[in-house]
Amino acid sequence: MKLIRNRKINTLFDAETLAARNDALAEEIANGGHEDLLVIAVLKGSFIFAADLVRSLHKAGLAPEIEFITLSSYGDGTSSSGTVRVVKDIDSDVKGRHVLLIDDILESGRTISFAKELMMKRGAKSAEVAVLLDKTGKRATDITADYVGFECPDYFVVGYGMDVAHAFRELPFVGMVVEE
Ligand code: IMP
Ligand code: MG
Repeated sequence: MKLIRNRKINTLFDAETLAARNDALAEEIANGGHEDLLVIAVLKGSFIFAADLVRSLHKAGLAPEIEFITLSSYGDGTSSSGTVRVVKDIDSDVKGRHVLLIDDILESGRTISFAKELMMKRGAKSAEVAVLLDKTGKRATDITADYVGFECPDYFVVGYGMDVAHAFRELPFVGMVVEE
C-alpha cells in the first residue's frame, strides 16, 4: 500500500510483472504474421504501456511505425459517457496498412470499437488490438482484443498511464485507489 496525493493505492500489477508481460505480448505480436505494422497508441491512458510495448516489439524483432490518436469518452469523471470522439487524429494514411491499436483498458469496448471501425473505414488492411487490461465483465459491444496483458477485476485502476482526473499516471505500477 502506498499513500499518494493522500489516497491509499494498492498495487495490482507491479513494474516487474508489467515488464515481463510486455515482452511476452511483443513475442505474440511478432508471431502474428504482420511484419510492417502501423502502431497507433490511443491516448492518453495508453502512453506508458505503448512506450514500453513498442520497445518490447523492437526486442522481438519488429520495426513498426508509431502514431497517436486521442479519443475521449470519459471527460474528467470515472464513468463512460457512451459516445466516443476524436480529440486529435493521426497524421498518417492507414490505407493498405496493418494497424495495431494499443490501449490501456478494454471496458465497454466503445473506445476501441470506434477506433477499429474508423481505421477499417479508412482502408486499413487489418486493425488488431492490444490492451494492457481487459475488464471482460463490463463489455457493451461485441469486441475482443487480439492481445491482452491481463484480465482486470472490475475496479477503477490507476497508474502506468491511467488516471483519475489526470492524477496517478506517473505510477510505475497499476494500482487501485482504496475507497475510504
Ligand atoms: P471503454 O470505451 O468503455 O472500453 O473504455 C475504455 C477507456 O476508458 C480506456 O481507454 C480508459 O482510458 C478508460 N478506463 C476504463 N476503465 C478505467 C479505469 O479503471 N481506470 C482508468 N481509465 C479507465
Ligand atoms: Mg483510454
